[in-house]
Amino acid sequence: MKVYLETFGCQMNRLDSELVASVLVQAGHEMVRDGRGADVVLYNTCSVREHAEEKVHSRLGEQMHRGGRGRRMIVGVLGCMAQRLGDDLRKRYACVDIVCGPGRLHELGDLIAEAGAGQGRVALDPRRGERKSGADIESLDSARDADLVPSASQAYVRVMRGCDKFCSYCIVPFVRGPETSRRPEDVAAEVRRLVDTGRSEITLLGQTVNSYNFSDGGRTVRFGDLLGMLSPIGGLRRLRFVTSHPVGFDDDILQAMRDLPNVCEYIHCPPQSGSDRVLGAMNRGYTRSEYDDFIARARAIVPSVVLAGDFIVGFPGETEEDHSASAELIRRSGFKNSFIFKYSPRDGTTAARRLADDVPLDVKKRRNNELLAVQAEVSLAHHRAMIGRTVEVLVEGPSPRANRQASPATKDKTQLIGRSRWDHIVVFDGPDSLAGTYADVSVYDATSLTLFGRRAR
Ligand code: SAH
Ligand code: SF4
Ligand code: F3S
Repeated sequence: MKVYLETFGCQMNRLDSELVASVLVQAGHEMVRDGRGADVVLYNTCSVREHAEEKVHSRLGEQMHRGGRGRRMIVGVLGCMAQRLGDDLRKRYACVDIVCGPGRLHELGDLIAEAGAGQGRVALDPRRGERKSGADIESLDSARDADLVPSASQAYVRVMRGCDKFCSYCIVPFVRGPETSRRPEDVAAEVRRLVDTGRSEITLLGQTVNSYNFSDGGRTVRFGDLLGMLSPIGGLRRLRFVTSHPVGFDDDILQAMRDLPNVCEYIHCPPQSGSDRVLGAMNRGYTRSEYDDFIARARAIVPSVVLAGDFIVGFPGETEEDHSASAELIRRSGFKNSFIFKYSPRDGTTAARRLADDVPLDVKKRRNNELLAVQAEVSLAHHRAMIGRTVEVLVEGPSPRANRQASPATKDKTQLIGRSRWDHIVVFDGPDSLAGTYADVSVYDATSLTLFGRRAR
């Protein structure tokens, strides 16, 4: 069957979609780029904010409209929203055949076959607390066909599922279930297969990746140990990881980053707020001064480290003073970049249950813009400090704006885009043939988002 798959949400969802596509292609299906000619339309969804869910509701609304016309398609809702809303999705949208939570994606092939025979179905994870083994879902990652990874030079690898932190605002622990770490041998085998097929940059994924902790038969493998196990894999030139949590980001991880040459000196470790009062209400598990200490430790052990953050503005009860503390944290942290989100109450979370969403939308918008403006200044200073340096860039390919910039004088050259080991976006002129390779680029200019350079000899 022709399968169209649209993905919303985080990196974890993108990886899930990639693995789902891999499994479906191995089962004989064909992935297509246009939903209109497809036999099966799948949405891999996100519940993290209201806005993310609205997009999927509008897609399903459109599907309802086309219902009467043309061929009958199989429609499936996968991922976090599927887990959160379950059968309600089928009740609300008659066109939906399959509802499949993120812990059941390995069953999708069967679900599609059954739906094709007229038997739509809902497959969800048990509620939290009814723990089940991760052995079944492991097959989704392990069955991955390295030849079907979209990029020839880089790939994502899951090291853990779920989250046990229960930040008061966050739906993730409810939809992604309890924290479970994959066997280190399974992770290593997957990394080796990807590297053997040419991917030299691997990014390890987890909701709180630094809390990776695998135990069996008396041994315990923590995240720093895992880095130590993966780093020696021949041909692995860059080893990265996201997203980190400030609690449990111990010195052994920083030392691994300092001592292992291919572990990239980049940490995305969201503070969420700079105010103790808000951090407490968010149940983040650390104070502002503990976060400051983490940054100081990171910079002391890994002087070249580059940091990035996330912030939520307009959390219930957030005052102007709390907001200023977040702005001040951005100024002091030197973050390369931050993602700033407006608080969105999520049903079932403690914050939604106990705290009134009392910061008006216009105030959230203003605070959002203010933090973005502060971060833009800090980002510009960070990027400008790179001017004059030569950085190694993993070239992704032509920059999306290539056509506009190409001049007759540089006919054989395109504007290329790639990333430094510190996650800087770097743009420079060079032949298309550099895609997927490493180039040394000397930086001559910078904006708050991008470094501009020339190929160094
Ligand atoms: N596991 C990661 C990512 C979680 S979701 C982590 O803990 O950092 C990504 C980001 O979405 C979070 O860092 C947070 O800034 C934001 N977010 C999560 N829930 C939110 C909510 N209810 N409203 C607004 N932003 C939210
Ligand atoms: Fe959500 Fe907090 Fe877990 Fe991140 S650490 S996924 S913000 S509960
Ligand atoms: Fe969204 Fe689920 Fe990721 S809620 S942020 S797709 S874990």
